[in-house]
Amino acid sequence: MNRVTTLEAYQDDRGNRIEFDGHVDKHVRIKFRGSRNVLRVTGPVNIADLGIDFDCDDGLVEIGPSRGVPALRAAIRVGDGCAVRIGRNVSMTTTAAMSTAEGSSITIGDDVMIASDIQIRADDGHPIFDVRTGRRANPARSIVIGNHVWLGLGSCVLGGATIGNGTVVGMRSIVTRPLPNNVIAAGSPARVVKRDVAWERPHLTLDPPFRKPTAASVRKSEYWALTDDEQSRPSRGRQLYAGARRRVRRGLKRVRRRLRTRA
Ligand SMILES: CC(C)(COP(=O)(O)OP(=O)(O)OC[C@H]1O[C@@H](n2cnc3c(N)ncnc32)[C@H](O)[C@@H]1OP(=O)(O)O)[C@@H](O)C(=O)NCCC(=O)NCCS
Repeated sequence: MNRVTTLEAYQDDRGNRIEFDGHVDKHVRIKFRGSRNVLRVTGPVNIADLGIDFDCDDGLVEIGPSRGVPALRAAIRVGDGCAVRIGRNVSMTTTAAMSTAEGSSITIGDDVMIASDIQIRADDGHPIFDVRTGRRANPARSIVIGNHVWLGLGSCVLGGATIGNGTVVGMRSIVTRPLPNNVIAAGSPARVVKRDVAWERPHLTLDPPFRKPTAASVRKSEYWALTDDEQSRPSRGRQLYAGARRRVRRGLKRVRRRLRTRA
């Protein structure tokens, strides 16, 4: 196994490599157990703690640049043929644990705010089987976290979860299923408790003004949007009804036009 404690351009005889145009020599621990693993850091990034275990072969970790947000802190396990992609300006309060296995991936968008004590796990670490069929009960499943998502303190995101842009996950919630954009989701499993919400980074006690009663007290990011999901769209029945009304109205207009030209 090769261990690296400096983040800088690196290549070993098993095809493992680090692509980074910079140098960080503190709080970095990277283990390469297998072959052809790649860590790609695509710009200047503020790193407070980065541990990556490439346990198998053909793993990929991509980290985007960050500026003006709290530093990156992550302990990442990368399984066989797995990928972890972390976007621009992703921040953590304490070290976030991430795990992938068996070809799964974790994708984290831009401007995501990750509070303390967070787990993002595409796999369960150990296999569970159906006794009758021998089939795997808990295959690893990929996770996609959108842009400008806020993962509240102690929350967990499990395999198969997707989280839409602008969404807030409440304290100690466990996300197991797809969540739409711009909602607050809370509980275990996390369910939508509020819709059509937007959050912003300025801290309540550290960033003035120290009272923020309305949206006028913050600068709005690009992530202010209404929730767009099944519930916000008209049902199939309503769509059919609206279509039929449109066709009838158009037909009536045609008839009236014809009557006018004849008169
Ligand atoms: C998610 C959160 C932001 C929601 O705040 P809110 O908009 O004021 O929500 P409310 O308190 O009105 O709660 C709405 C509903 O969700 C429930 N709820 C809220 N947070 C919950 C949580 N973490 N777990 C389970 N249920 C929760 C409430 O009980 C309420 O349910 P009800 O309608 O059945 O009574 C807040 O509860 C939270 O978790 N904050 C922690 C943020 C954090 O982690 N900060 C760390 C610093 S980054």
